[in-house]
Amino acid sequence: MTRTATCLAVGLLLAAGWFVGRLGVPAASGAPPKGESATPAKSATAAARQESPEPADNSYCLVCHANYEKEKLTKGHQPVGVGCETCHGESAKHSGDEDGLTPPDKMFAKEQVNGFCDSCHPKSKLVHKDYHKEWFKDRERDETCNDCHAEGHRIKVRTRVWDKKTRKLLSDDGVRMMYKDSPATQGVGQKAARMAGPAATSKAPGLFARENLVAWCIVPFDAKKRGPEERAAMLERLGIKRLAYDWRDEHVPTFDAELDALKRHGIELTAFWAPWSLDKNARIILDVLNRHHIRTQLWVMGSDVPPTTAAGQQKLIEANADRIRPLALEAAKIGCTVELYNHDGWFGEPENQIAIIKRLNLPNVGIVYNQHHGHQHLDRFPQLLTKMLPYLHALNLNGMRRGGGVLPLGAGDLDLQLLRTIRDSGYRGLIGILNHADADAEARLSDNLKGLDWLLPQLDGHAAGPKPVYRSWP
Ligand code: HEC
Ligand code: HEC
Ligand code: HEC
Ligand code: HEC
Repeated sequence: MTRTATCLAVGLLLAAGWFVGRLGVPAASGAPPKGESATPAKSATAAARQESPEPADNSYCLVCHANYEKEKLTKGHQPVGVGCETCHGESAKHSGDEDGLTPPDKMFAKEQVNGFCDSCHPKSKLVHKDYHKEWFKDRERDETCNDCHAEGHRIKVRTRVWDKKTRKLLSDDGVRMMYKDSPATQGVGQKAARMAGPAATSKAPGLFARENLVAWCIVPFDAKKRGPEERAAMLERLGIKRLAYDWRDEHVPTFDAELDALKRHGIELTAFWAPWSLDKNARIILDVLNRHHIRTQLWVMGSDVPPTTAAGQQKLIEANADRIRPLALEAAKIGCTVELYNHDGWFGEPENQIAIIKRLNLPNVGIVYNQHHGHQHLDRFPQLLTKMLPYLHALNLNGMRRGGGVLPLGAGDLDLQLLRTIRDSGYRGLIGILNHADADAEARLSDNLKGLDWLLPQLDGHAAGPKPVYRSWP
């Protein structure tokens, strides 16, 4: 998707203010209309008349406005390169505002609608048609083209109302997007709700329920070196429904086989470990996901040495945002998110990740937090979690004790307290359990499940049962 409005073709505007012919406005040159005028961008491209237009890419908006994908006005225009942005403007501030208080660049008061449609659909071309004749005879009536053509384009229940001309916010329901059930999670966007897994919705199976668990670090770290089919079958056996897929170069040729196997076994690919930037492998991954129609999280790492000056800090924030932006924009095109993954160093500090996210100001970037790379955070974990909540879409658990190590759940003396902190925080995203220990992946995953089953009753104040006997841990 072109976020910068590259105005490739200069529009040809007739005296009447109508564009020539039945033009397709290609996505790349469909400069979004800006400002208050009720005509679309003048770039509506005379030059493009000869070319067949590229379909518009609406994915950036659909992250939140998912219900517009199948709607008539959108569907009728998308193939000819007229997208949300052509009609509503680039709306970057609107899209980046998690609280949903900034209006899109272009809205339409009722009396502006017909004039706007006219600007691409000259009356002269429509008026002879039987179905239009009557209506065009008497255009003074209080009806718009949209009454017939865009019924489903209207929001049935509004949560925000802007004055479409002055752009002032007239009312909002006070809810900061979706998570109405928990004050702690207000501020999290609806896209987060969509991407964060089933626990994020009100009919949640529960934060630590099997359906909400994602297996992580079970490919290169698997002592048994399972292939795609064996891995998917193993997850099915364990009752785990989701995989976060990690890989090394030798796995690239088997990406397709992996996705096929997961599908056969009813396992959702919930996350894909991604390169640091939009490089060759990243493009391969995006292509594979696109071909399989899979929307997933992309987990992206970073490192860097902490800077000593404020200017150095600012520079690092910008450099990391610049590194990640192209990947995030490409991911958005196919409905995927990018989640910043803590892996020690400067990038492994949630405050720095949040600064990068704010700098990026894209709706599809968040955080996946890993306890096994967070031993240095133990003393301030509750505060960190609160800070991360608006961005946090996955949280990978580990058996935690001071001094580090990758332990199965229940083997760390801090596990119960940490689980309680997580549960009480209002966090409702995905929960990961991991191997990362070069053990047999099945043994370690089942040890984690055992550990979790032992801890959970204790969270609710029940007495601890007999300690689990682990297969992958002394
Ligand atoms: C982060 C979520 C988010 C993203 C991304 C987003 N929107 Fe919105 N949009 C909202 C919310 C929330 C509302 C208010 C809906 C309501 O009233 O319930 C809204 C309302 C609108 C409206 C209605 C304005 C009016 O007339 O009152 C338009 C038009 C709109 N969005 C266009 C877009 C376009 C175009 C894009 C992509 C460039 C986009 N939105 C991306 C959240 C988002
Ligand atoms: C930026 C230019 C542009 C604007 C603005 C525009 N259209 Fe279109 N529209 C097109 C193009 C290009 C096509 C495809 C060629 C055609 O059928 O005219 C199209 C096709 C259509 C179609 C036929 C496709 C279908 O859905 O079956 C309808 C109906 C339509 N437009 C209605 C509207 C209405 C109503 C508005 C105002 C809300 C509008 N258009 C605004 C460019 C535009
Ligand atoms: C009373 C209902 C009604 C109104 C109002 C109306 N249309 Fe249509 N329009 C239709 C019907 C019915 C069709 C044919 C079936 C279809 O494409 O939905 C049609 C078809 C179209 C088409 C595609 C075929 C063609 O004739 O080129 C376009 C473009 C279009 N209308 C644009 C507009 C625009 C622009 C307006 C407002 C200025 C408008 N219509 C107002 C009912 C209406
Ligand atoms: C062909 C131009 C066109 C396209 C393409 C288009 N819109 Fe619209 N949109 C309009 C017009 C015109 C209105 C005003 C409708 C009205 O008041 O009847 C509108 C209204 C809206 C509203 C507010 C509805 C309300 O009840 O106030 C939202 C939200 C919206 N559009 C979102 C989107 C999104 C998201 C996309 C892309 C998936 C999109 N639109 C694509 C022309 C367009």
